[in-house]
Amino acid sequence: MELLIQNAKLRDRNELVDIAIEKGKIQIVGTEIYGNALETIDAKGNLVLPPFVDPHLHLDAVLSVGDPRYNQSGTLLEGIQIWGERKPHLTKECLKANAIEAIKWEVANGTLKIRTHADTTDPTLMTVEALLEVKEEMKDLVDLQIVAFPQDGIFTTPEGKNLMVRAMEMGADVVGGIPHNEFTREDGVKDVETAFELAEKFNALIDIHVDETGDDQSRFVEVMVKETILRGWQGLVTASHTTAMHNYNNDYAFKLIGLIKRAELNIITNPFDNSVLQNRTDGYPRRRGHTRVDELLARGVNVSIGHDSIMDPWYPMGKGSMLQAANLLMHTAHLSGYDQIGSLLDMITVNSARTMNLSDQYGIEVGKPADLIILDADNEMDAIRLLSECLYVIRRGKIVSQTQPAIHHLKFKDQTQRINFKR
Ligand code: FE2
Repeated sequence: MELLIQNAKLRDRNELVDIAIEKGKIQIVGTEIYGNALETIDAKGNLVLPPFVDPHLHLDAVLSVGDPRYNQSGTLLEGIQIWGERKPHLTKECLKANAIEAIKWEVANGTLKIRTHADTTDPTLMTVEALLEVKEEMKDLVDLQIVAFPQDGIFTTPEGKNLMVRAMEMGADVVGGIPHNEFTREDGVKDVETAFELAEKFNALIDIHVDETGDDQSRFVEVMVKETILRGWQGLVTASHTTAMHNYNNDYAFKLIGLIKRAELNIITNPFDNSVLQNRTDGYPRRRGHTRVDELLARGVNVSIGHDSIMDPWYPMGKGSMLQAANLLMHTAHLSGYDQIGSLLDMITVNSARTMNLSDQYGIEVGKPADLIILDADNEMDAIRLLSECLYVIRRGKIVSQTQPAIHHLKFKDQTQRINFKR
């Protein structure tokens, strides 16, 4: 054995198990495995999971907060304005360095698979080129999927569609879109249809930024549903954000969620950005900016969580922690029911792996790649509550990140006590 992990707590097993790893793959999962291993880790009953999967990140914008200036209003529109001011002096070197740093943060926090968007509206397509290079350079550490993403719309410039085609020819994995950002409803429909047309041509998956607004008249998910069902592409299409669904009337939302289920659309919600960007014009009472996560889950839709931004013009916070994103969603989406806590972990693991179409290579099962994480947590509740550190991140059987959690010593009545916040 190359690596033996002992005393692992898996989500679906009551007893602790050992995991034997050989040639980068999981060989045995069982109780009391004997034999020589080059390296042994005692998981000490901590939770062992397949790695976190971040299905929605903008690596072309990460760590750029404050360049050239900070967003003072905190709005989406000022963020877009700042991004436009930054574009002319953006260099490939700077973009790559920021993307690589952010990937390292995500890996240290347990994420080994990331879907990133790459802006295609710059005529040089430097962003796409840079992220394709990052994908190759970082392939031993992380699996990247790149979405050709028309940030400013496909039909807002004469060359928009051509740039999307070129981005796919260069090697982007997924076709994006942004129908609510087009000038007209008709162009928005064309935006979605174009994504399907390109996906067919390049045999690619689809992931569209759709209805990312508080406008209850923004209704492009229904167009995605129609295209998906008529083409028979169930399961291969993803709708990101869908925040307008929060504000739809209940009859329309009920119909739409039924159609989403029928089309097997994957939905990605992005708690960090959407909790601060949406419904800014509400005054009070102020509606929350999220899609209807609890209703979607209740009707069996595959919902996952994306990080979206890390320190960029739209969201100045973040450190690449999917547990932090799940913790935030627990609060803002009313997911504090005991059984819903497990759903939050699903949304940053198995659900997002399904969204990225990676399920056959994902999970702690014999024969699958030995990608897994050991959390400093006894159970699912503690993982989300404590934002537990990843003690170990293992990729293809090799330790790629190790973390020493903070140790708290409390002094009281001449005694020193260690506090770990665990019951
Ligand atoms: Fe996004």
